[in-house]
Amino acid sequence: MTRTNIDRDWRFHAEKKATEYQVHWTRKERALFGDIEETGGIDGIMWSKAGRSLGPANPDFDDTAWERIDLPHDWSIAQAPTPSAPERNGFSPLKVLWYRKRLALPAHDEAGRAVLCFDGAYRQATVFINGHLVHSHESGYIGFRVDFSDVAEWGGENTVAVRLDARRKEGWFYEGAGIYRHVWLELSQPVYLRPDGFFVQTDVDADGAQARVRVEAEVVNDGTEATDATLVLGLDAPDGDRIRQTRLSLSTALVAGDRRRIEGEMLVEAPRRWDIDNPVLYRLTATLQAPDGAEEDRLDVPFGIRSFRFDPDQGFFLNGRRLKLKGVGNHMDHTGVGMAVPDRLQEYRITLLKEMGVNAYRCGHNPPAPEFLDACDRLGMLVMDENRIFGSSPEVLGQVEALVRRDRNHPCVVMWSLGNEEMAVQFSDAGERILRRMKRVVRRLDTTRPVIMSINGGWGRPTGIIRELDLLGANYLNLGDVDECHRQHARLPFILAEACSHVCTRGEYEDSAERNVVQAYDRHVPVEGLTEECIWPRWGRSAEDMWKVVAERDFIAGVFTWVGIDHRGESTPFNRWPCTGCNFGAMDACGFPKDVYYYYRAWWRDEPLVHIFPHWTWPGREGDPVEIWCYSNGDEAELFLNDRSLGTQAVPRYGHVEWAVPYEPGCLRAETRRAGQVVATCERRTAGPPAALHLASAYPSLRPDGSDIAIINAEMRDAAGVPVPDADHRIRFSVEGPARVIGVGNGDPRNAEALCGPDVALFHGLAQVILRSTGAPGRLVVHALIDGMPDAKVCVDTIAER
Ligand code: GAL
Repeated sequence: MTRTNIDRDWRFHAEKKATEYQVHWTRKERALFGDIEETGGIDGIMWSKAGRSLGPANPDFDDTAWERIDLPHDWSIAQAPTPSAPERNGFSPLKVLWYRKRLALPAHDEAGRAVLCFDGAYRQATVFINGHLVHSHESGYIGFRVDFSDVAEWGGENTVAVRLDARRKEGWFYEGAGIYRHVWLELSQPVYLRPDGFFVQTDVDADGAQARVRVEAEVVNDGTEATDATLVLGLDAPDGDRIRQTRLSLSTALVAGDRRRIEGEMLVEAPRRWDIDNPVLYRLTATLQAPDGAEEDRLDVPFGIRSFRFDPDQGFFLNGRRLKLKGVGNHMDHTGVGMAVPDRLQEYRITLLKEMGVNAYRCGHNPPAPEFLDACDRLGMLVMDENRIFGSSPEVLGQVEALVRRDRNHPCVVMWSLGNEEMAVQFSDAGERILRRMKRVVRRLDTTRPVIMSINGGWGRPTGIIRELDLLGANYLNLGDVDECHRQHARLPFILAEACSHVCTRGEYEDSAERNVVQAYDRHVPVEGLTEECIWPRWGRSAEDMWKVVAERDFIAGVFTWVGIDHRGESTPFNRWPCTGCNFGAMDACGFPKDVYYYYRAWWRDEPLVHIFPHWTWPGREGDPVEIWCYSNGDEAELFLNDRSLGTQAVPRYGHVEWAVPYEPGCLRAETRRAGQVVATCERRTAGPPAALHLASAYPSLRPDGSDIAIINAEMRDAAGVPVPDADHRIRFSVEGPARVIGVGNGDPRNAEALCGPDVALFHGLAQVILRSTGAPGRLVVHALIDGMPDAKVCVDTIAER
């Protein structure tokens, strides 16, 4: 099979009104179907005759006036938010969207197979090819394949038209709008290996000396004649050396229209284990050979050899080693690009989380992009993979099947989450029956991972879905008693599947209901003056209270704190215009750390750390006491103001220390000690006037392939290089060289601008710009202009492999 990315060069249009395509109807069609304004219901894309669809679905439709775009594409993040759009979607508008593309196919013998693979499109996709309705797909999250072999024009041009209806929301958070993941063209012979029919399972001996690699493949004969098939399996070690090769032959002929499963097994001596610190990947190559020995198809699947288990008393074990899951739940969008997260940005976000000490990620509350899981495999991040909808309709069971088939070869995935907070059914018999049916689908495809669901409150109740769970997911400490629940369900492993929901706005040190900001101190107290319609998360806890509970109980396998990185929409605790983003994150929507990030980092990593906050620039507040918090994982911390010691305090385990310090400009410094030795220090200096913007590229280079990105972070500094904490200058980004700005952001959850750039204001001194390669090689120079300030710039080179 050849698999070609076809992200580039699509035509796009957001419908202005449902009737606009009726202008393309002939008089006869109008007479037949009626006028849409009068009849309603018919929206100008009739497909009552095969190959004769009307409107943009018709190959002859003229789309030359439509916008030219490249995928992945999220239309709604580039629109200005508006108060009339749903708050849950970050006040971003939602519409019916159209995508069209001309696609040339190579000349072929007419018996070939042509498939489009959409990794994710939001949502309710209707796909037309050459005027034929070829596929409908509801889910905005799990991808789908469109086999259009029957209507393909081999050796000619094909017209792909995709209609999406983003107005139908699936969640209560920002979901984007558009073809926001990659699209691939897969061409193969009619006898082929089903890409999602391939499953690699590994069992490691108790002493770790040997691993058994079991392989399952599905061969399909979509041709017109019976054939024999031989599968050759090759296994490559992490360094690329072939270590095993096996031939498996189907003994009887594969008749036309048949599909068969082939199973095989190989042994690996002294296997290298996939682990979070050493995520080594092996590779399996499956080659399908025709009776004459010719290669008919080939699949290449990276996989990891690892073992894990959940224990009701001892928590989680990876490769026999006990590991507390220090996890975050997260949505998938990022500033500037919304849901259309480029592959490099997936990697960047996981890297930021790993630096914080995170070892597990909950895909709240939907299937992630395939490239996200690839990055978790490569970087060593454990994953709770999650389905969006709870139900047992054929549509939902199909979504579960697609999820498990797609993701079961990823070593990072260690649990299947089939639902979240299904309050209407979580304790009912109906809930139990639904879960049983969903679980059956999972078990048919994968018996190696537990099934989890997250229960909101009343976790101890012995009814409903809990009877079907392999792993109990409890959401929010304030909604139950973990110890009591463990007593009642002593044989069920337990995890805090969602916790905390502590809210804070980066760089803000006082709550303000007028300004819609929440303080950085991890207190979890209600914001004074919030109106009735605003929701302060009563169910949550401070990070500190939450982590103490988890860290001190062996039976709790770990936690997924809500959330690692702020998402758009769900603008708790204000939930009102112009709040477009949430405040739950340990990092803001750009991935800039908030102070609470350092709480986690101190207790989730071993390296010595000390962090004090707030900043030390409070002009006009000389002599007033400033509340200083210190996060540290040392034994004790000492604070100095302008080199005068303000005292030493013992650091409580999983806690923090505080001082009240009368403000005096200069330098506030903390030292932390272990066994009497200074192991880390942290300084806050009083900033002078803003002098220059400092730009830093997250990666030193960029691949000139039209899809790789550069991420540039901007920080305002004074003449001595001290960060200016309240700088809010407006920046205009521009670029010389082969890249263009695709998005900007500043992490302000009240930012109600279109985030397509190139302008953005600093928020508490920071901003971010994301640029995509145009495909050409050469050096980029990214400039940031601020009125009255020197031009700031940073260079990024394009390098074929980075
Ligand atoms: C949970 C829910 C999350 C998020 C969170 C906010 O109940 O599962 O998706 O809404 O509350 O605190």
